[in-house]
Amino acid sequence: MSLRIVAGSADGALAGAVAAALDTEPVSADLERFPDGELRPSVDGVRGADLYLVQHTGPPVNDHVVELLLLLDACRRAGADRMTAVVPYFGYARQDRRRRSGDAIGIRVMADALTSAGAHRLIVVDPHTVALEAICGIPVEMLTAVPVLARALREKVPSGAVVVAPDLGAVKIAQHHGRLLSSPVAVVRKIRLTGTSVAAEELIGEVHGRPAVIVDDMISTGGTIEAAVQVLLDHGAGPEITVAATHGLFVEAAEQRLGRPPIGRLVVADTIPQRDRPALRLSVCSVAPLLADAIGRLHRDEPLDDLLVHA
Ligand code: R5P
Repeated sequence: MSLRIVAGSADGALAGAVAAALDTEPVSADLERFPDGELRPSVDGVRGADLYLVQHTGPPVNDHVVELLLLLDACRRAGADRMTAVVPYFGYARQDRRRRSGDAIGIRVMADALTSAGAHRLIVVDPHTVALEAICGIPVEMLTAVPVLARALREKVPSGAVVVAPDLGAVKIAQHHGRLLSSPVAVVRKIRLTGTSVAAEELIGEVHGRPAVIVDDMISTGGTIEAAVQVLLDHGAGPEITVAATHGLFVEAAEQRLGRPPIGRLVVADTIPQRDRPALRLSVCSVAPLLADAIGRLHRDEPLDDLLVHA
């Protein structure tokens, strides 16, 4: 089976870098847009292929989701033999339970839609919840960008720093960073008030007089990080605070919230492409080598264990 990397329109640069690392050319789909907004993708040259379709589902989330699903269907109908959806940032993963009756469970709907569109396997990077693997009816490879981020942090973070999880959901990721940076871990207990506002309730761990590195799977509006920074300042951390996350969505007021002291530097991966953001001191680390390594191993039927999130 020949290896084919198909680039969705969400991030042609990442797909191109992955294909280059695998010594192949990406296949670009022809995306016809109708005046009413409908999309008709068309793909050639994938018959019999072991195909990897690269498309994140970050903003505009619903456009990227629909394109991903239609592209999978196009590739299936064009004769691809085995199809893996490579979704570096998997949107809707935060909707993994009902907060009240009447809510949808978005992650389940996305998982089912990918399967019915023809995906045989899913690759994601640091999904919001490891439950994704159990929710999906197809095999899921949950890669982690933590070693990639930690490599960059090692050069930027002063010694004696404490790694901080800004909420309980980030504890695993913080422990992983803590191991790689040989740093202790502290945890902020947060409650979410609305989609854009959170309150930090208490801090577990010793941060006084220490530089801090707040780590999370994703930054959306920046509310979680802003609340964690306040708690850290209240407990005497600093003077410098660094922030690292795999997925930098930076929507709404994120740039204003995060572009001021005491936040010195932000480190994110390129699971979502980053434009120039002058307000932020942003460093972007590429996951292209990680994705290429995982795809190459899957193509050769080799294990990926050392690249995966440890649940
Ligand atoms: C939630 O539990 C996630 O891990 C992030 O902490 C959260 O989604 C970030 O969102 P925001 O930046 O809007 O606070």
